[in-house]
Amino acid sequence: MPLHGYFDYNATTPVCDEAVQALRLAETEFANPSGKYALAKKAKEALALAREQVARMVNSGSDEIAFTSGGTEANNWAIKGVLAAQGAFGRRAEPAHVIVSAIEHASVLEVASYLERIFDCEVTRLKPDAEGKVSASTVAAALKSNTRLVSVMLVNNEVGTLQPVRQIAALLRERGIHFHVDGVQAVGKIHVDVRELGMDTMSFAAHKFYGPKGVGGLFVRRGVRLEPLLHGGGQEGGTRGGTEAVASIAAMGAAAEATQRMLRKWCCGCRDSGRSCAGCWSSAFRASRSTVLRIRMPRRPTHLASASPAFGLRRWRRCWTRCTASRSRWDPLAATTNSLRCRMSCSPWVCPRRRSGARCG
Ligand SMILES: Cc1ncc(COP(=O)(O)O)c(C=O)c1O
Repeated sequence: MPLHGYFDYNATTPVCDEAVQALRLAETEFANPSGKYALAKKAKEALALAREQVARMVNSGSDEIAFTSGGTEANNWAIKGVLAAQGAFGRRAEPAHVIVSAIEHASVLEVASYLERIFDCEVTRLKPDAEGKVSASTVAAALKSNTRLVSVMLVNNEVGTLQPVRQIAALLRERGIHFHVDGVQAVGKIHVDVRELGMDTMSFAAHKFYGPKGVGGLFVRRGVRLEPLLHGGGQEGGTRGGTEAVASIAAMGAAAEATQRMLRKWCCGCRDSGRSCAGCWSSAFRASRSTVLRIRMPRRPTHLASASPAFGLRRWRRCWTRCTASRSRWDPLAATTNSLRCRMSCSPWVCPRRRSGARCG
């Protein structure tokens, strides 16, 4: 599909082939999954498979994934559902205190304003520091005896800042305060492991990771009490009413699996865990970022290509990546030898003697 220079993958991503194929499911598996006949069983199986695929993507149990119509619904549900389950909305309820970061998406900030207006909740909006982060110490300083819920996004939708979610989760777990994370801009773009991060609920949306629009979900840690947002026919184990969007959900599952494959290639997880690693593309890119961002990979000179037929474009790229990752002087000739170790001496790229084929240095 020609994308004509489309770069705004934070707004939405194109739908991947795997998801398109799964969407075709709607043509054949059209039955209502709540039905009691054989056709319905197939639709039910499609939902179960998608639940497993999505759960694998975030390392949760499949029983901890509930499907929604997207990120907005998931954020609304988590915040309102948790507060309702904690009895924060009753007439005689003590006014609850809620903390959100001031840089949350509108689907969190608007819910916070709604809670203030309608339920007299007290809302604290935490400003980020100069780096755009909301630290655990900032959250700790804002806690009150009646704080019921904290919501901080994992990745910011405007500037991509990663928030210290793991530290905030550890702080709140000690105090028994519910921690919701808007993971919409993170899930499918970086490795997200809900066990490692430790949040109680986390929202995600398929259209941010090559799935269709209008479908997403909420991770709900086992044991978390959550009132339904949509009451109805008892779907999603009674937590969300409404006939499931089977084809869209199946497509989200397929996109989740495809994205996982891509992510594993791109980064083994070192980027987010802070581990040092020399094996994946992400680590190579980070190590070479200063070079790569300023200097584009030069075109493979034709004289090199003709001098060595083995000097293919892939080798040229591999050499560039390795050299910049190890901060060595870039030496494309290293790639013509079987050893990929870079020579620290002069390179044919800058040395006319070497370029003419003579030895130098
Ligand atoms: C951080 C964040 N949260 C929530 C949403 C809302 O998700 P959806 O469009 O699926 O309702 C978005 C959408 O852009 C987002 O960027």
